[in-house]
Amino acid sequence: MLSGFLMDLGAEVRVDAAGNLRGLYAANPAGGPRLLIGSHIDTVPSAGAFDGVLGVVLGLALLEALEGRRFRFGIEVVGFSEEEGVRFGVPFLGSRALVGSLDAETLQKTDRDGRTVEEAIRDFGLDPRKLSVAVIGSDVIGFLEFHIEQGPLLESLNQPLGVVECIAGQTRLDVAFRGQANHAGTTPMPLRRDALAGAAEWFSAVEREGFGTDGLVATVGRVKVRPGASNIIPGQVEASLDVRHARDDVRRKAVDSLIGAARRIAAGRALQFQCSPILDHPAVTCDSGMTDLLERAMTSAGYQGPRMTSGAGHDAMVLASTVPTSMLFLRSPGGVSHHPDESVWPSDVAAAIETGLRFLAELEEEV
Ligand code: HGY
Ligand code: MN
Ligand code: MN
Repeated sequence: MLSGFLMDLGAEVRVDAAGNLRGLYAANPAGGPRLLIGSHIDTVPSAGAFDGVLGVVLGLALLEALEGRRFRFGIEVVGFSEEEGVRFGVPFLGSRALVGSLDAETLQKTDRDGRTVEEAIRDFGLDPRKLSVAVIGSDVIGFLEFHIEQGPLLESLNQPLGVVECIAGQTRLDVAFRGQANHAGTTPMPLRRDALAGAAEWFSAVEREGFGTDGLVATVGRVKVRPGASNIIPGQVEASLDVRHARDDVRRKAVDSLIGAARRIAAGRALQFQCSPILDHPAVTCDSGMTDLLERAMTSAGYQGPRMTSGAGHDAMVLASTVPTSMLFLRSPGGVSHHPDESVWPSDVAAAIETGLRFLAELEEEV
């Protein structure tokens, strides 16, 4: 559907070897530099309808609002694949393909059916040997991502838009507590090595760590208990840990503290503890020049939104390693996201389009 809209708007459409949708609205004269505008087209289980895809649709809306006007730079609308990391446990696969960091080890990560990323690319009819073609070139002058805030700040300030200065760094770990499965009716309490009781003690420590450090968030989002019957003492618990903070030293100190706590809890209960790193992504500062330009565009459109930090991760944090990157947030009613109640106000979408058009016009002056 997005491809159809892009073609109707005169963009040249392709799907790259990482499954990213790429629609180039050519420059005038053709062949000039290009600006990327986009976000991710995948999402999370039990999601809302706006996380990611709104940023792609806003790219389309800008092309539509241009009514055929062209700039000295092209506009490539990108719909990134696999930003959330739900299927293979590793996020940002699509955007990593654009910056050339989708490495061989990541291509061997498997989903719950044992299919690797590489096999999934082939299953989709694409050729992983062509991943190098997906990498952006030096003709890309910047990346602009529109995204819902996914938090309460803009609503609390009664502002429709905000300019993102920094994207918090994030650590994702998979952890396991292993004890001894046994009969729930015949095993006296002192003789148990209950993996879930130990994990639960640690889950409380995770929450205390989050409350204990200003600006830190720490979450256990996924838990799997084995064997998983009501009359068996759990022998094994596998869980996820997600820790984020705008300062990398604070985040890493919290992660070290939580791994230490897990080891102490496991030792005290004769459990084994194991953790595997999934992601350690440093905090990212958006490009100052692009961010200033975006703020001028927002202000000239009549909006006084704040500069803010994003607690959520975005493809922008990957692109920022290679091209000047900026993000515009739209208010999240109720501060809700990663939930079916996620929404946006149509008037805020209109404000974002007006800001985006002014951003393009001002960029034209600078190219
Ligand atoms: O998890 C996140 O930060 C985002 O939803 N990818
Ligand atoms: Mn998300
Ligand atoms: Mn998102």
